[in-house]
Amino acid sequence: MINNAISSVWTHSTDIVVDRGEGCWFYDKDGNKYLDFTSGIGVTNTGHCHPKVVEAIKAQSEKLLFGQFNIVYHQPVIDLVNELSPVMPEGLDTFFFTCSGAEAVESAVKLAKHATGRPNVIVFNGSFHGRTHLTMAMTTSKTGYREGYQPLPGGIFVSPYPYAYYYGWDEETTKEFALKELKRTLLGQSKPDETAAIIIEPLLGEGGYVVPPAGFLQAVRDLCDEYGIMMIADEVQSGFCRTGKFFCVQHENIVPDIMTMAKGLGSGIPISGIAYKRKFQENWRAGSHGGTYSANTMACAAAAATVRVMKEEKLADNAAARGSQLMSALKELQEKYPAIGDVRGRGCMVATEFVSDGKPDATIAKAVINECLKENMLMLGCGTFNNIIRWIPPLIISEDEMADGINRFTKSLKKVL
Ligand SMILES: Cc1ncc(COP(=O)(O)O)c(C=O)c1O
Repeated sequence: MINNAISSVWTHSTDIVVDRGEGCWFYDKDGNKYLDFTSGIGVTNTGHCHPKVVEAIKAQSEKLLFGQFNIVYHQPVIDLVNELSPVMPEGLDTFFFTCSGAEAVESAVKLAKHATGRPNVIVFNGSFHGRTHLTMAMTTSKTGYREGYQPLPGGIFVSPYPYAYYYGWDEETTKEFALKELKRTLLGQSKPDETAAIIIEPLLGEGGYVVPPAGFLQAVRDLCDEYGIMMIADEVQSGFCRTGKFFCVQHENIVPDIMTMAKGLGSGIPISGIAYKRKFQENWRAGSHGGTYSANTMACAAAAATVRVMKEEKLADNAAARGSQLMSALKELQEKYPAIGDVRGRGCMVATEFVSDGKPDATIAKAVINECLKENMLMLGCGTFNNIIRWIPPLIISEDEMADGINRFTKSLKKVL
């Protein structure tokens, strides 16, 4: 079944040929059942095949599969904007939709360039923004994404992300350091009046599930205001209730100028977008951006239903509750196992970072993930050093399912350590 006609450029963390999914579970044709704590890398926040999302897709497919958005308007995009508007950080009142997270980031950068008339973008070290050439240039979580593809587009400058555990400093020291370096980036690499945007993941994803110290996002906001630079929050992974709020920036009441969204927005149907302040629209010339599948009809229908489900089922609250259940269990394990160097996160976006003698240990993380697989539980790693296991379960998860996951992880951990 798995054959050579399928490109080997994709890596696979398992060989499972999945037949169907329901809630937190995958099923294969042989009747095996797997607890999915990956959510398709943060996509299936409403669980696999949420009945209301499936129903919306079915209903839309009988009416109109595709109404090209340069040619006609359609109801699903209107529904989606109506669902999204009330949950946005205040002031983000205008939307553009496209297909993938990388395209959302590209869109945000294009808007920032037109709105400011400036060429450059500052990113943070460890970030992941996508796999197109521009977004690869903006991605510094691992060299594996860039190797052999250089040179990448210019105009991208990198400043340190405030990753306290990595530096071995307290939160305040780390915050001050990263801020100082960001200011130095504006002096040494990209002048403020040549800087269109500073883009930040409000909770670093692929780079290691790092929560920035309190006040850092506000300091970035203030710096952007001081110099007329646009602040872009990349919420592709941290958005859609994942961290216990609809969007992660809402934990600190930050309003970016542009916010990117994808993954959790469509429950698995490819859709992404940006939300931005309408005043920036003036300079984004009509026709200067778009795409055949932009604001795709079926995807908008799935996304409108997804956002409705998130509100009706209070998935942000569930993410917060299940996240604290998870966090206290992991903190207990950390006390028993010194190899768990750090446990951190928000809501259901949580990291366990493995170390030996104070150094990153990727071998342990990989072995634990493999043991979890033997327990029929799917987990993902992350981090520049591959020494982190990320916890990213569907947000419809029940208390019992979370306990089940923690139990399988604990068994796996015991086998490895
Ligand atoms: C923060 C962030 N931005 C952008 C992307 C790129 O999204 P996509 O893979 O849909 O292009 C990702 C993907 O993991 C991401 O985590």
